[in-house]
Amino acid sequence: MATILGIESSCDETSASICKDGKILSNIIANQTVHHKYGGVVPELASRAHQQNIIPVVQEAIAAAKISKKDVSAVAFTRGPGLLGSLLVGTSFSKAFALANSIPLIEVNHMQAHILAHFIDQPKPKFPFLCLTVSGGHTQIVLVKDYFEMEIVGETTDDAAGEAFDKTAKILNLPYPGGPLIDKYAREGNHLAYTFPEPQIQGLDFSFSGLKTAILYFIRDNKKLDEAFVENNLADICASVQYRIITILLNKLKKAAREYNISDIAIAGGVSANSGLRNILQEAAGQYNWNVFIPAFEYCTDNAAMIAIAGYYKFLARDFVGQDISPLARMSF
Ligand code: KG4
Ligand code: ZN
Repeated sequence: MATILGIESSCDETSASICKDGKILSNIIANQTVHHKYGGVVPELASRAHQQNIIPVVQEAIAAAKISKKDVSAVAFTRGPGLLGSLLVGTSFSKAFALANSIPLIEVNHMQAHILAHFIDQPKPKFPFLCLTVSGGHTQIVLVKDYFEMEIVGETTDDAAGEAFDKTAKILNLPYPGGPLIDKYAREGNHLAYTFPEPQIQGLDFSFSGLKTAILYFIRDNKKLDEAFVENNLADICASVQYRIITILLNKLKKAAREYNISDIAIAGGVSANSGLRNILQEAAGQYNWNVFIPAFEYCTDNAAMIAIAGYYKFLARDFVGQDISPLARMSF
């Protein structure tokens, strides 16, 4: 019997979750709205908001799971990668909770946790599978051999896919985070209205910085001709940009599936909430005979349920860390 308290505080969501014997009993997320007007996450404000949110979020997670804090067997927390000040809040809280309750402490890699979110609900992927992990800070193709045996076989050489969405939104004067808004407007638009370039990058790696520049120049040039160009064509612009981003992702995924001869394909991370990506992947499943695994919406963007489930598997392996642990802004597998 194992009841894990999961803590996530790597960026701008403060989250706590209770996982009992591999089943998620609660997943409480406090979103920080303070960043919207700045066009991106302000690290100092994020740390302060985590500090305010962490205790109430944990109390709510424990209450919603209908357990007492004395029932918790171990506390699992995001050690990295993420914003250092944000990670410090979750790490310090977790250490204090573990110490006060004399229970073990479990470190979790945030990107591995996004992938392990696939082990919360049925159907669960079978090893080995490929996972496209797309978030605000990462874009990776990961060969997942076991719960904690993962190999990054491709990754972005510059911007992440989520950044491409967020920076496009900024160019279009849409608030942060732009991904969900571009997704929303794209549903009403024609994805073939405008053509944006596909970067010619070798192997399984990605590049999104050229696309960002192309979008910037495209908007600038069109606004010279028509001041209201963005307002009048917002849905078509969003649909065309989104189509380019998701086809870049899909083309590399197809290449990886061929190279590794793997047909179990998963997506994870905030951008996996994108409806265009989810649809194009379902189509690819039919076309290439893939078994596709798409997470439930609540487990796409940052959440503590994924930390708690990762913590559960580490608990089974008795993989604990000491009180001298400190957060890591950069942390690979
Ligand atoms: O995984 P996540 O919540 O945080 C990080 O670990 O970075 O991912 C956040 C990213 C942001 O860039 C956000 O714009 C993007 O995920 N995102 C989306 C959608 N929902 C969130 N991008 C495209 N379409 C969406 N529906
Ligand atoms: Zn994330």
